[in-house]
Amino acid sequence: MTKPNNNQNTSKKASLEKNNPNKLNIGKSETTNSIDPVRGRSSKTTAAQGGTSNGIDQILRPTTWDDYVGQDVVKKNLKVIIEAAKRRSECIDHLLFYGQAGLGKTTLAHLVCKEMGSTIKITSGPTLEKIGDIAAVLSNLEAGDVLFIDEIHRLNRLIEEVFYPALESRKLHLMVGKGPGARSITLDLPPFTLIGATTRMSLLSGPLRSRFGATFKLDYYSQDDIVQVIKRSSKLLDVTIDDNAIQVLARASRATPRVANRLLKRVRDYAEVKGEGLVSEAICKKALSFLGIDEKGLEDADRRFLEAVINKFNGGPVGINALAAAINEDRGTIEDVYEPYLMSLGFLERTSSGRIATEAAYKHLGLKARGTLI
Ligand SMILES: Nc1ncnc2c1ncn2[C@@H]1O[C@H](COP(=O)(O)OP(=O)(O)OP(=O)(O)O)[C@@H](O)[C@H]1O
Ligand SMILES: [Mg+2]
Repeated sequence: MTKPNNNQNTSKKASLEKNNPNKLNIGKSETTNSIDPVRGRSSKTTAAQGGTSNGIDQILRPTTWDDYVGQDVVKKNLKVIIEAAKRRSECIDHLLFYGQAGLGKTTLAHLVCKEMGSTIKITSGPTLEKIGDIAAVLSNLEAGDVLFIDEIHRLNRLIEEVFYPALESRKLHLMVGKGPGARSITLDLPPFTLIGATTRMSLLSGPLRSRFGATFKLDYYSQDDIVQVIKRSSKLLDVTIDDNAIQVLARASRATPRVANRLLKRVRDYAEVKGEGLVSEAICKKALSFLGIDEKGLEDADRRFLEAVINKFNGGPVGINALAAAINEDRGTIEDVYEPYLMSLGFLERTSSGRIATEAAYKHLGLKARGTLI
C-alpha cells in the first residue's frame, strides 16, 4: 500500500512534474516526422524523452533498467550488446523491437539510447513519404546517433530501398536533378544505430528485416509484472491504492503496462470524484464496471467481437473477412487490436479454417458452450 494522501494530489503532482527531469522536455518537437533538415535538427531529444505529449505519461515512462519491469530476456540480451559496443567504442547494431501496442517498445528504444549516451532522433514509417524525407533524416545524423523509426512496417518500398545501403555500408545514394542532366551522388553517413519498432512484424519486408543485427519480441506481461508497474506508477502519481485493488487492476490491464497506467489514472479520477481519494478494492471494481471493463480487461468492443463469433457464426470457424463484415470493423483492427489479447487469454483460436471461440470464451460471457444442453 502506498502512502496516504488525500487533498494534495494536485499540488504534489505539480511539484513532481516540476522536479522530474522529463518535464523539461515535455511538448518539445521530439516525436514523429522531423523530415526537413531544420526540423531534423530540432527534433533531437534526450533519451529520457517519450513519445507522447501527455506530461503524466512522460513521468511514468521508465528511464532506468530497474524501472523497466519484466522482459528479462530482452533486457539481458540488450545489456550484453550495449556493454560490448561500449567496450569497442562502437555503435550498437541496428535493433528491431516488435510486439503489441503499449508493451514498451518506444520506452526500450529510449533506454538503449540513454545507456549508450547517444542522442535519439525520432520519426515514423508513415511520415517518410518521399526520398527527400529520408535523405534529410539520414544526412542530419551525427556519429553515434540513434535513429528511431516507429511503425517501421509502414515505410514504403521506395524508402526501404534507400535504407538498404544506408544500413549496410553507411552510404546514401541519391539522384540529383531531372532529365538528361540528372546524376547520382553518394554521401557517406556517420556511424549510427537504427532502432525500428513495429506491431506488425509480418508486414516488414524480408530484406529490411534481415538488415537488423538483433530482433526482440516483447511479450505480454505477467500479473506480477503488471502489479509492479501499477505500484511504481501509483507512487509516482501519489495515488493511495490498496493491495487488493492493485491485483484487481492488474488483472484488468490486458497484461499491458500502458493499459495498466491508463486504468490507474481513470480509477484515481473515479476515486476522487465518487469516493474519498483512496482506491480500495470496492472502488476499483466500481470504477472498472463504470468504464465497461470486466475483470479480464475486456471492453464492450471485445465482447461484441466474441459474441459475433459465437452467435452469428455458431462459435466458428469463421473467416476474418466474414467476421470483419459482420461487426463492421476493419480487418487490420481485428487482427491488431482484438485478437492478440483474446488469444492470449485462450478465448480465441486462429486455425487454417478460421477463428474459433473456445469454451473459456463461452464461459466468460456466461453462454452455453456448443453441444451443451444446459
Ligand atoms: N517494462 C515496463 N515497465 C514499466 N512501465 C512500462 C514498461 N513498458 C512500458 N511501460 C509504460 O507503458 C507506456 C507505453 O509504453 P511504450 O510507449 O514504450 O509502448 P510501445 O510498445 O512503444 O507502444 P506503441 O506500439 O503503441 O508505440 C510507457 O509510457 C510506460 O509508462
Ligand atoms: Mg511506441
